Amino acid sequence: MKVLITGGAGYIGSVITEELLNAGHDAIVFDSLYKGHRAAVDARAKFVEGDLMNVALLTNTLRENEIEAVIHMGADSLVGESVEHPAKYYQNNVVNGLKLLDAMRVSGVSKLVFSSTAAIYGEPERQPIEEDDPAKPTNPYGETKLAFEHVLRWYEDAYGLRYASLRYFNAAGASEQFGEWHDPETHLIPLVLQAANGTRGEVQIFGDDYPTSDGSCVRDYIHVIDLSRAHVLALGILDERSAIYNLGCGGDGYSVKQVIATAHEVTGREIPTRIGPRRAGDQAVLIASSEKIKHELGWQPELQDLRLIVKSAWDWLQKHPRGYRA
Ligand SMILES: NC(=O)c1ccc[n+]([C@@H]2O[C@H](COP(=O)([O-])OP(=O)(O)OC[C@H]3O[C@@H](n4cnc5c(N)ncnc54)[C@H](O)[C@@H]3O)[C@@H](O)[C@H]2O)c1
Repeated sequence: MKVLITGGAGYIGSVITEELLNAGHDAIVFDSLYKGHRAAVDARAKFVEGDLMNVALLTNTLRENEIEAVIHMGADSLVGESVEHPAKYYQNNVVNGLKLLDAMRVSGVSKLVFSSTAAIYGEPERQPIEEDDPAKPTNPYGETKLAFEHVLRWYEDAYGLRYASLRYFNAAGASEQFGEWHDPETHLIPLVLQAANGTRGEVQIFGDDYPTSDGSCVRDYIHVIDLSRAHVLALGILDERSAIYNLGCGGDGYSVKQVIATAHEVTGREIPTRIGPRRAGDQAVLIASSEKIKHELGWQPELQDLRLIVKSAWDWLQKHPRGYRA
């Protein structure tokens, strides 16, 4: 297939592009580079620099490249920022998403894989979270992703759009070529590894009195390669139907202290930590169930091991201590 990846110069999009190409598809990356990196675009992919709000450029790109499906990764995704600047999140995650759908409609492209988030579940009543559990986001980030999912549903009914919406928590790890490099960085594994290589100070653990085995919060981490393969796999259902799938680690998750201990083992370095107060709104445990996608699409994570995840991220950081900075 000829696939357009919005946000393909970002962390997850870069690995999806790589996996698409490895699977024999053509990949065209569309990214404004406002957060992504040109060096994160696979050399085998075509690259178009542009913003999702530019419907004319999007439409031309879809037509000229005879695009058959879109994987939509381009979005803003910082929870705290979304609370301070909801307008930015509604603009980029909803309004600009609508621009993409407009361009797809006029170009006759009717297949979309959407990178949603497990943040749409808010404060779930049970773990692991299943797709039918109530969606009650507690911040504008989750709210805007859920709003876009609702758009997809109505566009399917009215315009025949086919979509797969994938909801997950924390992408983690790296491929041989591409890794995680955000500014600001808010994700635990890169923060811990940057502390290990001395480019960052101590890591703060937000609360160690949660009702978990070691008192720190438990979260769900999926290897970015497994996650990317799920996006590629989801393309395969769009001839027939739309679907919503969770993607989770499939086990009991990993605590913050466990991540730090694993990083210490993998790197052989000391990781300075400090116990701080709980953060408002943090849940003790957040894990998504992947049973539905396993059952329906046969998705099987092959790299679902915290040590493997942390090691791949560390190997990448060792090769790129300044990330994608020149
Ligand atoms: N990282 C995670 O753990 C995680 C978890 C759940 C869902 N997600 C979702 O996955 C997607 C990718 O996340 P990521 O961590 O790779 O983020 P990222 O910031 O690394 O990548 C996003 C990319 O989108 C591009 N982009 C953003 N707005 C754009 C616009 N208007 N026009 C063109 N390009 C634009 C950015 O330049 C960037 O390259 C996001 O939609 C995010 O909500 C991420």
